[in-house]
Amino acid sequence: MRILSGIQPSGKIHLGNYFSMMQRMIAYQAKDELFCFIANYHSLTSRPTKKDLEENSLDLAADFLALGLDPMRSTFWLQSDVPAITELAWLLSQQITVPQLELAHSYKDKVAQGIQPGGGLFYYPILMSADILAFGSERIPVGPDQKQHLEMCRGIARRFNKAFGETFVIPEAEIIDELGEVSGIDGRKMSKSYNNTICPFASEKDLKKSIFSIVTDSKGVQEAKDPESSVLYKIYALFLDVEKRLELADRFRTPGTGYGHLKQELLAVVLDYFGEARAKRDELIKRKDDLREQLKIGAKKANEVANTFITKARENIGLEL
Ligand code: TRP
Repeated sequence: MRILSGIQPSGKIHLGNYFSMMQRMIAYQAKDELFCFIANYHSLTSRPTKKDLEENSLDLAADFLALGLDPMRSTFWLQSDVPAITELAWLLSQQITVPQLELAHSYKDKVAQGIQPGGGLFYYPILMSADILAFGSERIPVGPDQKQHLEMCRGIARRFNKAFGETFVIPEAEIIDELGEVSGIDGRKMSKSYNNTICPFASEKDLKKSIFSIVTDSKGVQEAKDPESSVLYKIYALFLDVEKRLELADRFRTPGTGYGHLKQELLAVVLDYFGEARAKRDELIKRKDDLREQLKIGAKKANEVANTFITKARENIGLEL
């Protein structure tokens, strides 16, 4: 099965990104064909500075590689290194109407917030469709916020195939369920925009600071604590198998262990869990040229696949004389 997804380079990755998305993508490598890219064209819609865009893109590349994405086995690239997808976006754009695009949440929400939307934000679902269709992708793991974009993509592909003959694979969305959502340190969904994240590649000092800021009730050491309603328990449990979770829940219910102690323990668990990846990332980020090289290798593979689909589309439309 060919699996594809993209992630925008928008700052430091957090446990929510890791447990809902990155870990899953990396695990697919064992049995599927993984296409994974850094969606830097899409992130232009939030108008980053040159410095932030460059830094965040290289950081995200280092994060993925450190966490186990294998550029030999999978195809891993920077979106803008396959510029032909912007051509494909143009070819696809005739297969969706302006009223349909106006329904996109990504666009509507910004307008509702009073933000003047750029043309790119309006066009975003079409570019995303090109990302997907250019690679013959069969399955697309995304968060629930992307469900509508996937539906638009399927509609575009179907209408294109109907108009010009079988050209594109119709992709299936794999919606990463919201129950699996990771809690932030304040108990809301972990999100950069809520400022409630724990970042696995942060310095030890910053990690400690965020873990010690996880909200708890005021139960003392000698009181029984309720794991079910505890944000600390929820975050800690991410790192444990079923048996260890039960043990931890028992420790919460049994007087004798304070929240401070549990937080200190969680810090050690996080450092241990990401220990290898943290060391690898430190090395990778020192060798930026190697990182760029890895992305170029991925871009070469990605361009080859994209070109076959785009050439077919050009032919079927009547652009190739
Ligand atoms: N829009 C996606 C997000 O913000 C990122 C993305 C761009 C993407 N192109 C894609 C995801 C193609 C899946 C497939 O999360």
